[in-house]
Amino acid sequence: MDSFSTLIRTASHEQHVEAETSTFMSDLLGGRLGVDAYTRYTEQLWFVYAALESGTQALAADPVTGPFIRPELFRLAALERDLTHLRGSDWRATLTALPATEAYAARVAECARTWPAGYLAHHYTRYLGDLSGGQIIRGRAEKTWGFERKGDGVRFYVFEGIANPAAFKRGYRELLDAVPVDDLEKQRIVSECKRAFTLNTDLFRALGEEFPLSA
Ligand code: HEM
Repeated sequence: MDSFSTLIRTASHEQHVEAETSTFMSDLLGGRLGVDAYTRYTEQLWFVYAALESGTQALAADPVTGPFIRPELFRLAALERDLTHLRGSDWRATLTALPATEAYAARVAECARTWPAGYLAHHYTRYLGDLSGGQIIRGRAEKTWGFERKGDGVRFYVFEGIANPAAFKRGYRELLDAVPVDDLEKQRIVSECKRAFTLNTDLFRALGEEFPLSA
């Protein structure tokens, strides 16, 4: 039988392609959107990471999620610096979540509270993605909107504490392979991962509707 890290990657492959090729992502990566769309997306990420990174104290003590809770992954502080740059120091006053973002953050928070293995599915979907495709998005954002390389505006994509992302991802996959749950629970984690991808695709759809290209 395939390792769990292979299983979860294979199971989400199709949805990964769907997310990558969503209208919003293609327009963003194609340099066809304004910085306002990028800003709006960054705002939405703030809500998602607030859910992912609050309540991590209990998750750090949990046998399933414990090994995965690593401060060098935390993105909330970086997002807040980016938002200060993008929106000004009073960004909090006008920050609003799209309904799709609210649904996403609520599901993450629910898992964090009640189902650590489910939380792991969300952890994997976000952080491993940020360490991979996130780097492509960063390069594109720097080029399209003129952010300083790895500077304010794209700090979300810069993992200062991870010198070698490829090695980190290998270690992460080893942790996935050693996760102390039975096969049925592994299947449930895979299902939750698919749900996580759907929540991302829903968010991209909503952002695509807010920032249509005037063709
Ligand atoms: C345009 C956007 C995206 C691009 C260009 C992209 C690109 C990539 C690439 C090249 C990898 C392979 C890295 C490797 O093999 O080490 C990867 C992995 C991954 N991506 Fe994306 N991605 C994008 C969007 C997303 C989104 C929206 C999500 C989910 C929120 C996501 C989640 C993941 C995950 C979880 C992995 C790790 C797969 C694994 O090795 O287990 N990606 N991405």
